[in-house]
Amino acid sequence: MRFPFQATCLASALSLCLSMTGCQTTTTKTADGRDEVFVFGAPKKKTSKPKKNSKGKKDTDSATQMAGSNTVPPPATGPLGTKDSYSSIKTNLPLVALTFDDGPHPENTPRLLDLLKSRNVKATFYVVGTNAQRHPGILRRMVAEGHEIGNHTITHGNLTKMTPDAIRKELKTSHQTILSATGVAPRSMRPPYGAITSDQKAWIKREFGYPSIMWSVDPEDWKRPGPSVVASRLVSGARPGGILLVHDIHKPTIDAMPSAIDQLLGKGFQFITVSQLVAMDGKG
Ligand code: NI
Repeated sequence: MRFPFQATCLASALSLCLSMTGCQTTTTKTADGRDEVFVFGAPKKKTSKPKKNSKGKKDTDSATQMAGSNTVPPPATGPLGTKDSYSSIKTNLPLVALTFDDGPHPENTPRLLDLLKSRNVKATFYVVGTNAQRHPGILRRMVAEGHEIGNHTITHGNLTKMTPDAIRKELKTSHQTILSATGVAPRSMRPPYGAITSDQKAWIKREFGYPSIMWSVDPEDWKRPGPSVVASRLVSGARPGGILLVHDIHKPTIDAMPSAIDQLLGKGFQFITVSQLVAMDGKG
């Protein structure tokens, strides 16, 4: 499926446009009212100027500063989405979010980042806190290259078997680990094993602002069925608004990515981060 080759303007705070060069942009409002411009399929050229805050001091964006360039859009902040959980979003636009769980891994994740960079593909990483604490430099690289980092707890335990206070501690510690390493706070969480109750989703959204991000395509890469099987399951399962789940701790999963990504790009899909995808729910 190809993206419709025409200018399209969406209502209210968000618009999605195609230029005549095939360069696609999405503009959203951040929590503090800035315009946030995303460019798919081409290097980003436009960044909105940060507004001064109430103290007259310029808002700074440490991720952009770390990137040392203006190619990284400023990450949005604050509560994400209106629902307390998403496994996909409602849209007819060929947008998908590619998500990687359980890293970072010292060899596989940098290799994956190289592959994503070479294709200008943005992804979302649900990092495990203990791994994040060991490899903060990899987290900084993720943010600097335009990827998003989400909360996947510190110890990767089963939330349905934990007390609310234990879950709070897991999420808070992981949140702080990501924020300290990158300067950017996570805006969503993914429950380890997908194990979470409706009540837990509700209070986690209320207290942390995090929607629980599930998935619409699971190629079961952790069972190591082989790179070509992982790639074909991702490609056959992808639908507009879908969330694709894989794990960057497994080498065969990284081996599957060039083929999977190139096939999906060939079908007209655009890869955006989870926050960008959630912002598109019900639009387009
Ligand atoms: Ni996990």
